[in-house]
Amino acid sequence: MKNVILTGDRPTGRLHIGHYVGSLKQRVELQNTDYDKFFIMIADAQALTDNYGNPSKVRHHIIEVMLDYLSVGLDPKKITFFIQSEVRALPEITAYYMNLVTLNRLLRNPTVKSEIQLRGFDSEDKGIPVGFVNYPISQAADITAFKATIVPVGDDQLPMIEQTREIVRSFNHIYEKDVLCMPKPLLAENEVCLRLPGIDGNNKMSKSLGNCIFLTDDSKTLESKIKSMYTDPTHVKVEDPGHVEGNIVFTYLDAFSSDEDFKKFLPEYKNLDELKDHYRRGGLGDMKIKQFLYKIMEELLIPIREKRKYYEAHISEVLDVLKEGTEVANNYANKTLLEIKEAMGILYNQDFFDEQIKRYE
Ligand code: TRP
Repeated sequence: MKNVILTGDRPTGRLHIGHYVGSLKQRVELQNTDYDKFFIMIADAQALTDNYGNPSKVRHHIIEVMLDYLSVGLDPKKITFFIQSEVRALPEITAYYMNLVTLNRLLRNPTVKSEIQLRGFDSEDKGIPVGFVNYPISQAADITAFKATIVPVGDDQLPMIEQTREIVRSFNHIYEKDVLCMPKPLLAENEVCLRLPGIDGNNKMSKSLGNCIFLTDDSKTLESKIKSMYTDPTHVKVEDPGHVEGNIVFTYLDAFSSDEDFKKFLPEYKNLDELKDHYRRGGLGDMKIKQFLYKIMEELLIPIREKRKYYEAHISEVLDVLKEGTEVANNYANKTLLEIKEAMGILYNQDFFDEQIKRYE
């Protein structure tokens, strides 16, 4: 049996180059492999679990994220894109799974735990919204409704996949039928790509920290952001020996540069190791490595910006992709919902009514 691939993003902001190396690039490669079906969900309902006061932000970013997807080269002929909240079977499936998971189990989820702290839900005047703490169960519905076997995610999502696997195991066991498929996570293979730091050196590139390079940044913005990047504070003069570890420009070069780029833009070095050696010895200035990084990133972003311009000018094409994808997604999820209800013995169809008539005859 071939794989079903499913992944998704919360539409709370434009996508940035951290998303690109961490997952979008991998999805573009994946779409050309052999699989049964590939779904990408715009997880608006999940985004609302911590943006319930700001639905217009979520609404706005549905199309923004969709444009980002298409502009990096995700192909609507190969991938089904859909809006989570338009698939009504998902909350229904979630409701049935809620009986299979304890509150303590949800509160032990490491990602949920850190998000509770981050959002201040643990403070006395706030409290934890039920919808928020429930989102791992809702994510299990997202994954299982489409019988996904492969879920490409970042490492912060591993606890969600583990939770999903537990639900699959207990559902199939309790209702004595292998209705649900066991999903596996798929991580980006490269350590740097898993969590690209922000341009300020902060651990994570994130919109709220204001340290992102967006896929939509123009050349000027890109250049000034790269110029402002942290390097090595002990590397003051060009002659000074420098540090490569913890130097964000080198971290980005680790994530983005190839030997090809050296041939094209910096032929006096064969590869990144040679460049790093020179930096460590001293005599290599920050401007030079930043210029090199700029050229690489600019080359990456040019076609992305162009594709985006095309789709912005053809927005009805984008909307059609979403509309059609959402219809396809509904067909899949509705089918699984019926199988779930049947396995649970709560499918009240004609057979049920005939049965009752017989019973009381
Ligand atoms: N939790 C994911 C995130 O925050 C988004 C998401 C929702 C998702 N449903 C999913 C990811 C199903 C993979 C599979 O990025």
